[in-house]
Amino acid sequence: MASSTAETPSSESSAPQAQPQQQQPSSTRTVNASAMASDPGHPKKPINLLRGWPSASLLPTTALNAASQRLLGNPSLATPALLYGPDPGFEPLRGALAAWLAEFYGTPSDIERVAVSGGASQSVACILQSFTDPAYTRAVWMVAPCYFLACPIFADAGFGSRMRAVPEDEEGIELAVLEAGLRKSEEEDAAAKDEKKCFKDPGPHRKLYRHVIYCVPSFSNPSGKTMSLRRRQGLLELARRYDALVICDDVYDMLQWRPATTTSSPSSSSTGEAPDLNKALLPRLTDLERPLGPSPHDPPGQRFGHAVSNGSFSKLAGPGLRTGWTESAPDFAYGLSQTGSTRSGGAPSQFAAAVVYELLVSGGLAAHVRDKLRPAYRRRHGLVVERAREVLGPLTTGMVRSLAGRDDVFGGYFVWFRLPGGLKADEVAKRCQAEENLAIGTGGLFANEVRLCFAWEDEADLEDGVARLGKVVWRMLHGKPMEVAAGGAGRGLDELK
Ligand SMILES: Cc1ncc(COP(=O)(O)O)c(C=O)c1O
Repeated sequence: MASSTAETPSSESSAPQAQPQQQQPSSTRTVNASAMASDPGHPKKPINLLRGWPSASLLPTTALNAASQRLLGNPSLATPALLYGPDPGFEPLRGALAAWLAEFYGTPSDIERVAVSGGASQSVACILQSFTDPAYTRAVWMVAPCYFLACPIFADAGFGSRMRAVPEDEEGIELAVLEAGLRKSEEEDAAAKDEKKCFKDPGPHRKLYRHVIYCVPSFSNPSGKTMSLRRRQGLLELARRYDALVICDDVYDMLQWRPATTTSSPSSSSTGEAPDLNKALLPRLTDLERPLGPSPHDPPGQRFGHAVSNGSFSKLAGPGLRTGWTESAPDFAYGLSQTGSTRSGGAPSQFAAAVVYELLVSGGLAAHVRDKLRPAYRRRHGLVVERAREVLGPLTTGMVRSLAGRDDVFGGYFVWFRLPGGLKADEVAKRCQAEENLAIGTGGLFANEVRLCFAWEDEADLEDGVARLGKVVWRMLHGKPMEVAAGGAGRGLDELK
């Protein structure tokens, strides 16, 4: 059976292996692979707006080649890079990363807070191995719509039937829903009166959390939304109260730009000041927790905290590097480095981490993000939004605004929007595949939202892909082909809101 790797649809199955349980009828939504595999005999060229990969044209191959050569030509780095490394990761990278993150997030640099990982996905698995217990940890609370490939990682850790969806609004996760769920879960547990069993002994360097909360606070996959500051603060406050660990996939934070196109509504626009794109828009949850005292759930003398930032070089350099990092309270970082497989093998991706170190200290990574990725994604995002406005009309407004109250910064890989006329996204996706050889991401069985990734296909195919989607939507709504105006563009769907 074909396997499904990060953001790649399995050719044999349309549904994710596991979805969060529905907390509210409309809240459970992940992004599904298109229902049908690409047909090699299809007369139209395949276009894939589902795949969440960087385009091959955006990989820093030359800079990585130079970084590898510098590394291998320097025995003082090459030798440790090719041996087992220390548990928290290749130390020069940890130091360089701590400084780089401090610069971007405006926080003090502290190497003890940083551990090298094998990418964000593997890092979640290690976090769950070290800090959760399938009996003691009550549930995993996931912001919905959620990054669909996170679900099997939670299922593998024993939470397959205990993933709970929490909806998000314009500002991000709905805290009242989350709190009601956390409270109910604890009340149910107290009423059950059974002993709070634990399968695991966390030992002196780790602790077990009662709950896990999973989210993508900035430029979320799939919704593109950014959680507001007050929601971040509220979320942290709840986590500290209920002994929850918030795992934040902060993988898109640095991919931000001023959109080529905005909704042009003064009320929804910027605060007047041009955002500095070399700085984070908002603090991470782990940054917000840093100045707070110990939580009531920290063991005496230790500070594990309740938030971990899960970062990755996948979207900044290349997913094949399989290298990322976590930033957290120092005791948490050390505890994570004591995960069994890390203690046995050293931190994952030792060699790739050393190459990334060279890329980082040479300034090559910052230049790649600043000069190549941000301009390219800005252009690509603009093309998708413009083309979608032409064929789908004002329905696409939400595609530009990622942060409640402002539309002057957008980021990440995706636009996400509701289809007109109550069309079901899965049906639209099936017809896109069958009629137009176009793959798109959908929001689940009855949802009517779609996700388009603008990172993978080249720019001409991005535009063509959105035009094909517009044709399918038109045909489904009208039962006939789209009328083509003199200028060549299809008539918009404005009247069909
Ligand atoms: C939110 C989110 N987390 C994690 C990943 C995967 O990260 P990595 O390649 O570092 O495992 C992705 C990739 O699409 C993602 O969108």
